[in-house]
This record gives sequence, structure tokens and C-alpha cells, in this order.
Amino acid sequence: MTERDEEALTLVTAALDLMVPYAVRAAATLRLADEVAPGGSTAAELAAACGADPDALERMLRYLSSRGIFDEVAPGVFAANRAASLLSPAHPWGMHELLDLDGPHGRIADAQRRLLDTVRYGGDAYRRVFGRPYYEDMAADPEMSRRTSAVSTAMAAGYAGEIAQDEVWKRAGSLADVGGGTGELTAAILRAHPGLRAVLVERAETAAAAADTLAAAGVGERCVTVDGSFFDPLPEGHDVYLLANVVPDWGDDDAVAILRRCAEVVPPEGRVVVVDTCVTARADDQVITYLDMFQLVVQNGRARRPEEIHRLAERAGLTHVETRQTPLSGYHVIEYVRA
Ligand SMILES: C[S@@+](CC[C@H](N)C(=O)[O-])C[C@H]1O[C@@H](n2cnc3c(N)ncnc32)[C@H](O)[C@@H]1O
Repeated sequence: MTERDEEALTLVTAALDLMVPYAVRAAATLRLADEVAPGGSTAAELAAACGADPDALERMLRYLSSRGIFDEVAPGVFAANRAASLLSPAHPWGMHELLDLDGPHGRIADAQRRLLDTVRYGGDAYRRVFGRPYYEDMAADPEMSRRTSAVSTAMAAGYAGEIAQDEVWKRAGSLADVGGGTGELTAAILRAHPGLRAVLVERAETAAAAADTLAAAGVGERCVTVDGSFFDPLPEGHDVYLLANVVPDWGDDDAVAILRRCAEVVPPEGRVVVVDTCVTARADDQVITYLDMFQLVVQNGRARRPEEIHRLAERAGLTHVETRQTPLSGYHVIEYVRA
């Protein structure tokens, strides 16, 4: 066997082991990292604390320890190491929510198992597995809905402040945040620009969460939240129509339909602003292709380069004016006008 054969074999055999992703998720779901005593705990103690089968749990912990997640400090006694501590809901990096099989990402993991269907027949695997699109499925379960909102809130903390500093808001008197999520970005923009008023259009349950966020941020008086769909006509008369992190959730035709709803109502001197991480030449290929696959499986969406978004905007009757990139989070703020 040549060296290159060996490399190829290593790549493929690594993929044989589906156990790592599921064992890590099982450990996170059982919150093992929170239950382990500082000097270590036996599998029986952990099983009693987490509601698990002691024998199966011991074998899983040994498996994880052999791969550097948890340490077997004495035979049958396990301690949390740095990697294991990442699985705790208390860890500030927020990995637990992405790994908890009882949460939204557990459902997404189930959908990923059906990638082959997506590749064979197109369309989102999520809908095939759960019988309805991701956002509808989340909305049908208040706990899932609360948890997806919490993830959005945490993510928005990373970019809302920077985007609120963009110059486009200084030129505007009113903003329509279309698919505005739980309202953190609108709240940050309104706080930074006291003369600005806003409307936030969202699905019912998320619109209610957004109203709470805006009130808590002290800007509730300046923002109306509207329960509506961005596939339907949007409220008229705003200077800026914002689509933040919305376009990647959708395939090309749906994305054009959403952009067209904005184009229909934006005044001639107004702007449609797309805020998006975007695929760029500088970004890491593995991260980008992962995000693209994630969008494909979960929502039949797509990660796009700025030029690809411009082409969709053109189909929707919009013309690109200018793109700026935020210095820290690297978000693209893309301005369009009605063609
Ligand atoms: C990725 S989140 C972005 C939220 C927010 N703009 C932000 O950047 O934090 C996409 C949002 O689109 C909303 N959404 C999905 N389908 C929608 C529809 N048909 N009409 C309005 N909003 C919708 C979801 O509820 C979700 O909050």
C-alpha cells in the first residue's frame, strides 16, 4: 500500500465511525459533564444521576475517554476534562445547545441522516423526516421555539452592535426588519439611532418574542411587531427593508420571492439591505461547504457569494449599490435600490 493509499484509507475509515458524533451528543444530552464529581465519578453514580443504564453508560464513557473526551482516572471512574466540559450547558461557548439530541439540533441531526434523499431527489431532508419545514416544525413546539430563539439571541450578540453602526441607518427615518427574528438586531439599531422608527415582520411566535426583546431594550415604543410572512405583501412606506440572515435559509426561487416583496414596497430613494455572512474567497472552504450543506438539508437553503445574491436581487427588480463589510464579524451589508 502506498502512502497515498494509506491517506485515502484513513480519510474513509474515519467516516466509518458514526459513534463519535452520537456518543458526544448522548453525553451532552445526559449532561454528564455537570454530574461528574471533580475527582471523578463511577458510571453507576452517573447513571443514577442522569437516568441511564450503568453498563451501557460505562462503555460509552470508556469509548469517549479513549478519544480524549472525559478521562478514565481509575478503572470505571470518569472525570471531565477540557473537552468534556464543553458539553455542559453552563459552558459559555454554547456547544451544548448544538449537541443536545433533545433540542432543535437533535432534530437537525436526524434530518442529516437523510442526506441521501436530498441528494437523490432534491429538497430539504428535514421536511422528509418531520413532515413539515424546519421553521413550522419549531413553531409547533413552544419549547423548541424558545430554544431556537435563545440560539438566535446568542448569535445576534456577535454582530448586532457592529451592524447597528453601519451608515445606512443614519440616512433612514424608518426601517422594516423583514424576518427580524427575536429582535436583537432591530433593538441594537434603534438604540444606536434614537430618531429611527421600525416595524419587524415575523412569524407569530417569534414576533411575540421580538416584542419582549424590544420592550426590554427600552425601544418598544419605536417598533411595531407584525405577525406576517415575507412571502406576502410587506408593510409599505419604510426607508430601509432589511433582510438579515434570511436569504441563506432559502433556495433561489424563494429567495427571489422574498427580495421581490421588498422591491415592491421600497420607495424609489429607499434601500433594500441584505445582511449576510456570505461566502468569500478568504473564508475557509470546509466551513463554507459545511454551512452550505447544513442549509441544504435543513431548509433547502444555500450559502452564497455576494455576486450570487446580486443576481437574485436583479431577478427581484433590484440593483446593487454598495457593499460594506463589518470589521470584526465580517458580515456583508449589501445595499440595493429598486431597478
Ligand atoms: C436566521 S433567522 C434571522 C433572524 C434575524 N433577521 C437575525 O438576523 O437575527 C431567519 C428568520 O426568518 C423567520 N422566518 C421564517 N419564515 C418566515 C416567513 N415566512 N415570514 C417571516 N419570517 C420568517 C424565522 O422565524 C427566523 O426568525
